[in-house]
Amino acid sequence: MSEKQPTNPNRRTPFSDAFRSFIPQGWAPYDTTPLTRLPAAEAARARRAAISAQFPGERLVVPAGGFKVRSNDSDYRFRPHSAFAHLSGLGTDREPDAVLVLEPVPAGSADEPGVDGGHRATLFFMPRAPREAEQFYADARYGEMWVGQRESLEEMHQLTGLDCAPSGELAESLAKEADTVRVRVLRDADADVTAQVDSIRAAATGTQTTGEQSAEERREAELAADAELATALSELRLVKDAFEVQQLREACEATARGFEAVVADLPEALRRGRGERWVEGVFGLHARHAGNAVGYDTIAASGDHACTLHWIRNDGDLREGDLLLLDAGVELDTLYTADVTRTLPVSGRFSEAQRRVYEAVLEAQEAAMAVIRPGVAFAEVHRAAITVIATRLEEWGLLPVSAEESLSEEGGQHRRWMVHNTSHHLGLDVHDCARARTENYRDGVLAEGMVITVEPGLYFKSTDLLVPEELRGIGVRIEDDVLVTADGYENLSAMLPRTPDDVEAWMAPLLGR
Ligand code: GLY
Ligand code: MN
Ligand code: MN
Repeated sequence: MSEKQPTNPNRRTPFSDAFRSFIPQGWAPYDTTPLTRLPAAEAARARRAAISAQFPGERLVVPAGGFKVRSNDSDYRFRPHSAFAHLSGLGTDREPDAVLVLEPVPAGSADEPGVDGGHRATLFFMPRAPREAEQFYADARYGEMWVGQRESLEEMHQLTGLDCAPSGELAESLAKEADTVRVRVLRDADADVTAQVDSIRAAATGTQTTGEQSAEERREAELAADAELATALSELRLVKDAFEVQQLREACEATARGFEAVVADLPEALRRGRGERWVEGVFGLHARHAGNAVGYDTIAASGDHACTLHWIRNDGDLREGDLLLLDAGVELDTLYTADVTRTLPVSGRFSEAQRRVYEAVLEAQEAAMAVIRPGVAFAEVHRAAITVIATRLEEWGLLPVSAEESLSEEGGQHRRWMVHNTSHHLGLDVHDCARARTENYRDGVLAEGMVITVEPGLYFKSTDLLVPEELRGIGVRIEDDVLVTADGYENLSAMLPRTPDDVEAWMAPLLGR
């Protein structure tokens, strides 16, 4: 469940009996118009059926996670675990402390309502409390007066299509037939639920593990079983369904609008000082307006800061003549995020040296995209990009060895200037499918419906004495989000220009030139 907030006695005024009897009176009844089903609900049902097929006869526990304390008695905005969002269809800030339990059903129940494959899914959550309850007025995390009207059990069912039950019934449901039903829990989502499952398993005998196992062996087997569930939930997202592809398309469109707004406001960012923060703020405004939030902390890196790969302090000035590396993505209300980088000349025109570096990175990106199609090794995409990078570095006389040697396993010198990989999976998480097995991800093969980033870069730090002075302080990354199609790929973020000429032509009217 949620992390414990320290109580703050200075913010609590005791409630009188008169208040308690007065507060439930005189409210309009709750609206009983049925709620519209969430757009992700149908797709989520198919995903539950797919995970059900992998774990027949087992109880699967997938928590949303709880509030995380930001400081003292203030929480971060809630964001559910992506596996929970994927299987429930719930997005935005829903649903703190909820737990989805997939309960195995007897063979032959597949057609019953609420059954997805071989499991019946139940969403345990904190339903709206009646106005008589103290929660209504006194609970800053769940109370209607504090956080707004929450759903009743029936309303949550209308939204998700799931059977719903109050959180208070979770413990009993988890403990049911614990001696005979194997339980797996997604461990990293909610420490309390994980501890609850662990203690139920520790108390159980029978089929959780075999009788001959020591306590240590039992524990290891349980952890391994839980890890298999985490892996399966991650791998379930490797190939996106039609709903997900549409969401990623929309996330890219919203992100492009955010980039456009940033460019239009560059003169203001220059004028104000601390322009990186201004850029972050403008993009954040659009992300928050168009969707749930940014999908990850925006990197607004100007000048030499662009050479710091995850520059999120964003407290620098923008300067005429410098480049601005903007790596940002809108996360929609459904929680799908884009992850796009453009490196832009602050004044609207690339210098000759900037253009040279930019074109090398673009060439690497084009080479990487060109190999994308089903059946190609994931690693090939990086290989294609890094071959161009190493070749250019050799041409420019920067590599201490040949490009070929640098590209060999014993080499790697080129990595001084591009230390990161070229691609990762993208979806509900910016680095999606992180728990997938290596053989299905890093050593895997591309398949239709996968969405990956293609993001080569070159980073010449101002302190790098091995590069000519004119290149020092130039960092360039170009990042796009690419859908693997039946016969190749589609660049979902292609609405943002990539060639230096196109970037300049796109920026000019936005800058009023
Ligand atoms: N924005 C993080 C990344 O590109 O992976
Ligand atoms: Mn990325
Ligand atoms: Mn990125």
